Amino acid sequence: MKIRTISDLGDIAGKYVLLRDDFNTKIIDGKVNDTFRIAQSLPTIRTLAAKGARIVILAHLGRPDGKHEPKYTLAPVATALSELLGKQIMFHTDCLDAPISDMKNGDIMLLENVRFYAEEENNDREFASKLAAGFDIFVNDAFAVSHRAHASTVGVAEFLPSYAGELLASEIYELTRVMKNPTRPLMGVVSSSKLDTKIKLLESLVTKCDILAIGGGLGTAFVLAGDKYNFTDMLYKPEYKEPAQRIMQLAEQHGCKILLPLDKGVGPEFDRAAPRTDKPLSEIKDGDIIMDDGPASVAQYINAIDSVRTVIWNGTLGMAEWHPNWSISSFALARHIAARTREGKLESIVGGGDSVAAAGMSGVETDMTYVSTGGGAFLEFIEGRDLPGIKALEN
Ligand code: 3PG
Repeated sequence: MKIRTISDLGDIAGKYVLLRDDFNTKIIDGKVNDTFRIAQSLPTIRTLAAKGARIVILAHLGRPDGKHEPKYTLAPVATALSELLGKQIMFHTDCLDAPISDMKNGDIMLLENVRFYAEEENNDREFASKLAAGFDIFVNDAFAVSHRAHASTVGVAEFLPSYAGELLASEIYELTRVMKNPTRPLMGVVSSSKLDTKIKLLESLVTKCDILAIGGGLGTAFVLAGDKYNFTDMLYKPEYKEPAQRIMQLAEQHGCKILLPLDKGVGPEFDRAAPRTDKPLSEIKDGDIIMDDGPASVAQYINAIDSVRTVIWNGTLGMAEWHPNWSISSFALARHIAARTREGKLESIVGGGDSVAAAGMSGVETDMTYVSTGGGAFLEFIEGRDLPGIKALEN
């Protein structure tokens, strides 16, 4: 894959740069609650501004379905971005008629949510040409939305010389490195409430990892698919059995050792503040609501982590964001991965919104070797799929 990055740009002083960022983040009471993605986008913005470009940023928030929905306005992001940059940026409430001719070198303008236009998600060619009008260069720095073939990720690249920003380039570099040339042994830790969304990821990881821990609801699905236990789990569906058994066979063919949960943190009801009891799988009864992996499971994962040199982690082991009762295993995992990384014994790659949040909530996010901004994009990249927003930048 050969793509141009902004380090290939010559003199861009006075040039109009259309920059795609991913600022899709949580807004609570009109304020940005999590600045991670915005902060990771700053280096490219700073680089372009320092070179004297006039920067206009396209971004989206939520899924407003092509309609102008005030609750999805990017106005709070404009405020957060100004604060993080330490410089007032402009905010314009339309994506098509921004007053760019008034901009000076180094100025930065954020446009309103590009998903307020139905043409965005349809990758409408005419809309893309209108977005590109008046600009000299397109820079995509939005790794997290590069798995979407939208007008602002793919369409505009047809009309402008296009480059990857620093964040996109580092995501491609780090994730390619860990998948193609990891320091071995390589271990994956994957969890999720549902199997459906992770089948392709697991199929890919069992062919590459030496050890794969499958935790959380996903791990429960694999345990139940093995027909050894007959407790029930509200997340389990009978149709999970076939893919789980297939993935176990694939792992065996590729010499990948699978670790499944040994015990679970359960409550008497599906309630965030329900009291927690840890039970080995053999003691789980119908009526127990499974909400976390138990201490023996975590000890097993941690033990394995101590035997490997690289860990790639996606997904929390329980309902970590819900209540401290159900974050115990995810936080213990995050802290152990971070401690090994700090000691220089492990390279750690974390991706996916909830595992990144768990690393953040347990105070160790900055200790990880690399934390990806991608959710769905991270999964698709690790699965080995081409991301259309990246493909559009290829020479
Ligand atoms: C994300 O948050 O993963 C990206 O911004 C993509 O959002 P989407 O799933 O709504 O396309």
